[in-house]
Amino acid sequence: MPLTSLDISNLRNIEKTALHCHSSLNVIVGANGSGKSSLLEAIYLLGRGRSFRTSSHRSIVQNGQKEIFIVGKTTEQSAQFIGIHISDGNLKAKANGQYLSKSSQLALILPLLMISPDADKLILGSPKQRRRFIDWGLFHVEQGYLTQWKRYNRVLTQRNTLLRQGACEETRYWDEQLITHANNLTQARMEYCMALEEIFQDYLALLTSGLQLDLSYRPGWSADETFSTALSQGLERDIKSGFTQKGPHRADLYITTHNRKAASYLSGGQQKLAACALILAQAKLLNERLGNTGVLLVDDLPAELDLNHRQNFLALLRELGSQLFVTTTEESLLPLDSFSDYSVFHVEHGQVSAIKKT
Ligand SMILES: Nc1ncnc2c1ncn2[C@@H]1O[C@H](COP(=O)(O)OP(=O)(O)O)[C@@H](O)[C@H]1O
Ligand SMILES: [Mg+2]
Repeated sequence: MPLTSLDISNLRNIEKTALHCHSSLNVIVGANGSGKSSLLEAIYLLGRGRSFRTSSHRSIVQNGQKEIFIVGKTTEQSAQFIGIHISDGNLKAKANGQYLSKSSQLALILPLLMISPDADKLILGSPKQRRRFIDWGLFHVEQGYLTQWKRYNRVLTQRNTLLRQGACEETRYWDEQLITHANNLTQARMEYCMALEEIFQDYLALLTSGLQLDLSYRPGWSADETFSTALSQGLERDIKSGFTQKGPHRADLYITTHNRKAASYLSGGQQKLAACALILAQAKLLNERLGNTGVLLVDDLPAELDLNHRQNFLALLRELGSQLFVTTTEESLLPLDSFSDYSVFHVEHGQVSAIKKT
């Protein structure tokens, strides 16, 4: 039960609210524009230190107000209170009253994943989105992954600077380190993607009627050569462009069906379901490895799903064991029969009220 209570002040149209969170399911009901996504945004800010809608902290402060306060009480022994304070466009995060220097520290206290209305970007979007997806998944479950990732990126930046300065002899010095870090990253990502694929296939089968999809991790250089060979063979091109062309920073998770890219083959609804299967698989891996401590935010899920798919989806959510926050415009759109116990909150013009606890 990661989040037990949530206090929000001055976030978009939510002026002030305090709520007790249910350990299993929290349903947030309200008309369009009432403030449902803003409520999820508050939780997201607590877990990630940023909004999922904008990079401008200023724009989420309520019009006419100066600062946002968000406080969450968690069951995490080491950090029972986590907080976010935004003022003058700056965000500060706290845990148990102490300022945190990095928002990644929040993510360790409140591991959080989200299925948003634009989840299909995971299928349709650029490789960067899928790399970020893999990196976040790994960051949550593998201690030390973030450090590895930073090391690789630091050396990459240094190499690129030298390339632009035309110091190609000196790049060789960095290449050795780059290769070590690249191989570490690639190994971690490949293992993660293999574990993910197995669970993804189960979810896909349960969510769709026989949709066939394959996942394969492409490391960012040709699979039939080592990264070391790819680097030395690409040096001339790298010098010309002033940029390292190959490496884990160009990796992708290929999602294909019948050897074609899923993005150009699947219908909109299928893309959404495939993305849901991916995120659910990630949530399941996270819960397995951390012991059921994850939070999953689901914003406006039913938009594209028919009743049957919604039913399947909710049954899967229940089995997952994550603490759930699910928004909907109508409670009747969510067939909640698989849940025996949950809380419902009604949101109207930014006012949140608990309307039922079964
Ligand atoms: N900085 C702000 N100050 C006050 N209201 C805002 C601000 N930003 C957005 N809003 C308003 O907050 C409301 C909440 O929107 P949102 O949370 O997206 O609603 P929902 O998800 O329920 O459709 C919208 O009506 C929007 O116009
Ligand atoms: Mg919304």
